[in-house]
Amino acid sequence: MAGPRRSFAITSGHNMRTQVGIVGAGPAGLVLAHLLHLAGIESIVIEDKSRHYIEHRLRAGLLEQGSSELLIETGAGERMMRERMVHDGLYIKFKGELHRLDFRDLVGKSVMIYAQQELVKDLVAVRLGYGAPLHFEVANVALADLEGPRPKIRFAEKGEPREIECDYIAGCDGFHGISRSSVPADKITFFDRDYPFAWLGILAEAPPTKDELVYTHHERGFALLTMRSPTLSRLYLQCEKTEDIAHWSDERIWDELRLRTAGGEGWKLSEGPIVQKGITDMRSFAVEPMQYGRLFLAGDAAHIVPPTGAKGMNLAIADVRVLARALEAFYKAGRTDLLASYSRTCLRRVWKVQRFSWWMTSLLHRFDTENAFDRRRQLAEIDYLTSSRAGATTWAENYVGLPMEWD
Ligand code: FAD
Ligand code: PHB
Repeated sequence: MAGPRRSFAITSGHNMRTQVGIVGAGPAGLVLAHLLHLAGIESIVIEDKSRHYIEHRLRAGLLEQGSSELLIETGAGERMMRERMVHDGLYIKFKGELHRLDFRDLVGKSVMIYAQQELVKDLVAVRLGYGAPLHFEVANVALADLEGPRPKIRFAEKGEPREIECDYIAGCDGFHGISRSSVPADKITFFDRDYPFAWLGILAEAPPTKDELVYTHHERGFALLTMRSPTLSRLYLQCEKTEDIAHWSDERIWDELRLRTAGGEGWKLSEGPIVQKGITDMRSFAVEPMQYGRLFLAGDAAHIVPPTGAKGMNLAIADVRVLARALEAFYKAGRTDLLASYSRTCLRRVWKVQRFSWWMTSLLHRFDTENAFDRRRQLAEIDYLTSSRAGATTWAENYVGLPMEWD
């Protein structure tokens, strides 16, 4: 592999040159670009949607302590520190009763609520603030020469063809992007699991019912009460995989949420006008390896987890921390060993997070293929986890985020 090269002038006609080409301006692409900038490594980010679109796309909300610390330490967490909602625990509701898992007490850590689109806004502002290239609304993105020393990203911008010649490419373009499918089929292995249900999610102008998240196990199916601010609630309901959102009036949604979360002393679900609603698919998916030639896959481009464990965005951030460190070792010291072990290092965490997300999903949802025995077994497991310190600690340790393991 060629040694580090010095920085290049970026443009010449329609062709550009950079050290790291980044496809996708989601959390993975934007955090990577930020870490590389701090390490003095040039990158160009391209995104096929508009800035407005990515800054308003409603998705994740929960950040592990390690993810938020990274953003704060690297100077991208100023607004987050003011607006975030720190949670030292969460609630589990089952058999109509509320139990609490106290992360601080069990593992000495916390998590926080800060909406993904707010994080994206902060990272876009940081990048544009230091004048680094970020191209929105590009089209027809394609990757070429991935096996050779000068991989390329080709795309169209305002109707004009463009090409970026790179040392390395980071495929951070999410589950539906083009990076993963640029790897020849015989060089990549897919692992996946489908779930026989989906989530119906709403955003409501209502203060959160409780100060922390409420995960609910109920005969009629799972429900989750989360939040975005002291006046905005984000609520999810397990629903049919083929569900049509048009069949869910606001009244039907509130009726179902009331039923699933009912019970317990003084409990009252906080309600208000629904300002947004949608259906989210549930899936577990991973590829091995996460690298092909000079292309490195990161975040949802390489793996998807069901949202029950709140891990997707956190895992995307963990991947790019590993990648940024490996690229820094290459550019500063000519080392290629960390790039070579990128996939192996990431996959250890990916599979632990896959296991946890699958487990939490299996624990809390209703599976129509299972019988009364399985429901009793689920309830016994939740009872064990909320009454045994050993059980609760395992749950808390995974939920707040496992420590980074560097190779
Ligand atoms: P993305 O966010 O998908 O970003 C990829 C970017 O690439 C996008 O901007 C896309 O427009 C762009 N792109 C796609 N194709 C191209 C192309 N061809 N060229 C250029 N750009 C392209 N995770 C958590 O950690 N905590 C949570 O609480 C949580 N809750 C969730 C709740 C729901 C309802 C859902 C759906 C997800 C949740 N997640 C959560 C998961 C989280 O949202 C994702 O894992 C996260 O967005 C992954 O980031 P990413 O940067 O890898 O991918
Ligand atoms: C969210 O706030 O959107 C959220 C929180 C926790 C989850 C999933 C989603 O497990």
